[in-house]
Amino acid sequence: MTLIDATQTSAWEKLSQIAKTFQPDLAAWFESDPNRCERLTFQAAELHVDLSKNLITPEVEAALIELGKTVELEAKRDAMFAGEKINTTENRAVLHTALRRPNKDTLRVDGSDVIPAVHEVLGQVYDFAEKVRDGRWVGVTGKPIETVVNIGIGGSDLGPAMVYEALKPYVKPGLECRFISNIDPTDVAQKTAYLNPETTLFIIVSKTFTTLETLTNARLARDWLLRKLKEQGAPSGTDAIKAHFVAVSTALEKVADFGIDTANTFGFWDWVGGRYSVSSAVGTILAVALGKENFADFLNGLNAVDTHFATTPLERNVPALMGLLNVWYVNFMKATSHAVLPYAQSLHRFAAYLQQLTMESNGKGVRLDGSPATSATGEVFWGEPGTNGQHAFYQLIHQGTQLIPADFIAVANPAYALQDGTTDVHSLFLSNFFAQTKALAFGKSEAQVRAEGTPEAIVPARVFAGNKPTTSIMAPALTPSVVGQLIALYEHITFTQGVVWGINSFDQWGVELGKELAIQIAGAVCGDEQILAAQDQSTKALISYYLANRIPSVD
Ligand code: F6P
Repeated sequence: MTLIDATQTSAWEKLSQIAKTFQPDLAAWFESDPNRCERLTFQAAELHVDLSKNLITPEVEAALIELGKTVELEAKRDAMFAGEKINTTENRAVLHTALRRPNKDTLRVDGSDVIPAVHEVLGQVYDFAEKVRDGRWVGVTGKPIETVVNIGIGGSDLGPAMVYEALKPYVKPGLECRFISNIDPTDVAQKTAYLNPETTLFIIVSKTFTTLETLTNARLARDWLLRKLKEQGAPSGTDAIKAHFVAVSTALEKVADFGIDTANTFGFWDWVGGRYSVSSAVGTILAVALGKENFADFLNGLNAVDTHFATTPLERNVPALMGLLNVWYVNFMKATSHAVLPYAQSLHRFAAYLQQLTMESNGKGVRLDGSPATSATGEVFWGEPGTNGQHAFYQLIHQGTQLIPADFIAVANPAYALQDGTTDVHSLFLSNFFAQTKALAFGKSEAQVRAEGTPEAIVPARVFAGNKPTTSIMAPALTPSVVGQLIALYEHITFTQGVVWGINSFDQWGVELGKELAIQIAGAVCGDEQILAAQDQSTKALISYYLANRIPSVD
């Protein structure tokens, strides 16, 4: 694949010229074009996506699409779907899309068809999940499982935790899932509190099975389990570990060393990146919680948007258009962040999940050939569910000095249809969704503020400039399929941006240095004077403060 410097293309030049004199006026654009909304509303599977409140004119739209074509977005997308080794620094294919393809498909990578392998593991995951759900899988004392605890971090935590929260109404009644990720001992301590070891099952999820946080937490969980079982006079040896621990990993030997039966280890492949892995065996806890049918629906949802991305012309290709729009905001409108605001309480972990997906993927300063990036890359993604965000940070989006494009996400049908007297609460909730995107787009003029009788001195403070860009995404309901569709949508938005910037969206070398130093510094923190002396002033002082203030634990 050729690396094309987007900044040297005529489409980029056009966008730069447009940006120089760009005066957004959404009110006038809607006024002069009665078809604007229809023209800029698209469908990707069940996602109804309204781009009309973005700061784009037909001229910008055309130049963005031209940019996508010039950087060979379509050919690069096809290369990813075909299993070419586009993750060049790790010499790996990028095939999370293969994880959700139907059994009848074929896809040859390095000479072998990966689809049968994907479905073989999926079959193992489903068998295991069904056994836990129907009580055939029992703990060491013969009791069925009531709590499943996922231990993983990054992609081995965020995806499963986010989807579990999003689909709680689909979780098998009586089954509870917990997620331990942080190496802060508080996490293990609080998440194992009051659990019954006899009915608890741990899933250790780590692609590499070397991650410090996950392995430390797994050992703490194993100690906790064996100690508690012993206290209760229950068997607390290797059989207990086998009955209460399973793993998801690509490193079978390391799993066996931990004491987990490799027959209860669900594998995946080096062509699945951590942050793209929720549709692999990493989602085992979801298969247990939601059941086979719902998990299959989730995968079908992902596949539906994959298919849309793979086959729809750029002019109507939702992830491509949203990715190109993000490029417009970052590179030409100088936006540095992007808000994602779900009007669905169940999506309360969606922004956290997206932060890894987008920022670990596109937070890169060098291009595919190792040369420095030629433009800004990787905006900060953040957000909270509406309406909570409205009462916290929306002020800055409405009246602050920074441009913050925002994606608003809502579903027509709530999981819980509650009435407040005669008022349908979901309708009231969504009135806020509609109102906020309207207020951000059209604002409130000085004349309107004055006409309300506002004292002159505070008129400026009460004016809303408008022209704050938003995308509205709606779906019929937050089903397993729709959650899958949302994930695939953002995966491909991320891919599109990475292609324009000419970076590798699939490696993550930037997380390595901190990991290495932490291991080194652990020596100093544990009392090695030499390592402490070798630190820089500030680090030395901070460690010294820690050592001086730490009260040794009684154990
Ligand atoms: O933070 C870096 C990272 O490698 C992520 O990309 C990954 O999701 C996470 O660590 C966990 O890695 P593993 O699944 O190998 O434990």
